[in-house]
Amino acid sequence: MLKKLLVLAGIALVGNAFSGVALAAGNAEEGKAKSAVCAACHGANGISALPVNPNLAGQVPGYIKAQLKAFKSGERKNAVMAGQSVGLSEEDMADLDAYYATLTPNFEVSLTEDEVALAEAGQALYRGGFAERGIAACASCHGAAGHGIPLHYPRVSAQHREYLEQQLLAFKKGDRKGYNDIMYDIAFGLSEQQIKELAAYMAGLN
Ligand code: HEC
Ligand code: HEC
Repeated sequence: MLKKLLVLAGIALVGNAFSGVALAAGNAEEGKAKSAVCAACHGANGISALPVNPNLAGQVPGYIKAQLKAFKSGERKNAVMAGQSVGLSEEDMADLDAYYATLTPNFEVSLTEDEVALAEAGQALYRGGFAERGIAACASCHGAAGHGIPLHYPRVSAQHREYLEQQLLAFKKGDRKGYNDIMYDIAFGLSEQQIKELAAYMAGLN
């Protein structure tokens, strides 16, 4: 119960932490021009070929800018993205954010038979949470269909299964911090098997 309250308090924190920050609206056209370098890994239309590179198409507005800032400051640690974000200004980040938000997500994810079985196992947890460990339903923040909620709850559908699994493991181990400890508190209580199941379920959502 205590853990559950903490998770709920986390929701309020996300709201407060950002409510005072005016989000300068980016220019999607400018963002498109600036995204040429990103396309090498994230795909020309924000849908990447390799599963270690996340899809960015249709991500909720606000999230990409926040993550770019976190990579640049080193708060989110990744050697590749540290290099990619170091030269970006606030305006560049806002423009890129605006551009990717306009792109159509990858609704053509196909799962293997094994992945479908994993996804079926992950559904109840995604929709209903895991009361035993005080874990709130993923759907409550990421949406029933995984579309996310602007500005800070990312889309988790139309995403590579491998990337989702890797991020949940990074949260669980404390390697990825995030805006606050919301995802750490949640992922810490998940087993590696549950993480596999959730990643497959989210990847197949659209
Ligand atoms: C050389 C390959 C490469 C290039 C070029 C690159 N990225 Fe990335 N990007 C990655 C990888 C790998 C990750 C996953 C990082 C992690 O695991 O934390 C990532 C993660 C991200 C994320 C986090 C997505 C999420 O769902 O949390 C954003 C946002 C992002 N990149 C934006 C960009 C932008 C904008 C550019 C161009 C300015 C860019 N990237 C260029 C490889 C690349
Ligand atoms: C209380 C709200 C909340 C709940 C509940 C929640 N999340 Fe999150 N999640 C977030 C926030 C906020 C982020 C943004 C990451 C950050 O803090 O940088 C996030 C990020 C993520 C990411 C990384 C996405 C990316 O593109 O890198 C994944 C994967 C994820 N959550 C999966 C889950 C799963 C699975 C559950 C349920 C077991 C869950 N989340 C429950 C708030 C929540």
